[in-house]
Amino acid sequence: MEISLNKKVIVISGGTKGVGKQLALQCAADGAHVVISGRDEASATSIIEAAKKSPGTIEFKKTDLHNVSSIRELFAYVADKYSKLDGFVNYAGITPAASLIECSESLFDDVFDIDIKAAFFCCQEAVKLMQKTGGGSIVLVGSTHHTRGKKDRTAYACAKGALYTLSNHIGRHYAEDKIRCNYLVMGWTPTDGELALRKSQGMTEKELREKAAKAIPMGRMTEASDIVPGIMYLLCDSSAMLTGSEFTINGGELI
Ligand SMILES: NC(=O)c1ccc[n+]([C@@H]2O[C@H](COP(=O)([O-])OP(=O)(O)OC[C@H]3O[C@@H](n4cnc5c(N)ncnc54)[C@H](OP(=O)(O)O)[C@@H]3O)[C@@H](O)[C@H]2O)c1
Repeated sequence: MEISLNKKVIVISGGTKGVGKQLALQCAADGAHVVISGRDEASATSIIEAAKKSPGTIEFKKTDLHNVSSIRELFAYVADKYSKLDGFVNYAGITPAASLIECSESLFDDVFDIDIKAAFFCCQEAVKLMQKTGGGSIVLVGSTHHTRGKKDRTAYACAKGALYTLSNHIGRHYAEDKIRCNYLVMGWTPTDGELALRKSQGMTEKELREKAAKAIPMGRMTEASDIVPGIMYLLCDSSAMLTGSEFTINGGELI
């Protein structure tokens, strides 16, 4: 089996941080042309610099996922420059903590805007472009929360549940266009976003790792290096018949 992304054009929403960033670097190392989106220009510049000697390329397109026209500009850029799209990875997401009882309207709107509305309109553009160019692979980064969620993450759990439905919907209805879609259940990972959330709750990285190690049957947190190869497999031609799956990389963690 070969995992090759050589010359493939791949868009990663949220490619400026965490797993998205590591994925972009690995895809470029494998010869892919990667377009990362996000808002953090300084982070994007350092990622592009780190990929300079790679056989592939990384470009940054500043995108605010609160804004559907910004999403459309991202995909229009890719269509103009490459005239094709082989892969789209929806990694961007926010995970603020709030229970059903505590959740404000603005927190709910924020979570739904980024975690499902933006993903929906990114997929709309990705599918339209892939339909024109012979198909492609979409990976929607989800979470164990999508089935019911922890008590302090209600809006997040509901948005990830909707994302799961979107993944199956695309997998079922666009297979005839050779477009695949899989839902990646990502494990508990010490990303920039997760570390910032825990810091705001008064927890250090060491304390986070100790707490997670007790909750995860494999005894440690998931790392970007555990997840990136799985996403690359979902993007490459070796997984050509894999669609509509719940692809789980979480060390056996269940909520
Ligand atoms: N960490 C975990 O334990 C865990 C577990 C399961 C699933 N996940 C999933 O992993 C993904 C990343 O979450 P994370 O908390 O780990 O964060 P992260 O690594 O810090 O990444 C978040 C990404 O989302 C982008 N983003 C956020 N808001 C945006 C906006 N308005 N416009 C454009 N881009 C935006 C950020 O880009 P900029 O900063 O450049 O704007 C960043 O690249 C989410 O889909 C989350 O559900 C995480």
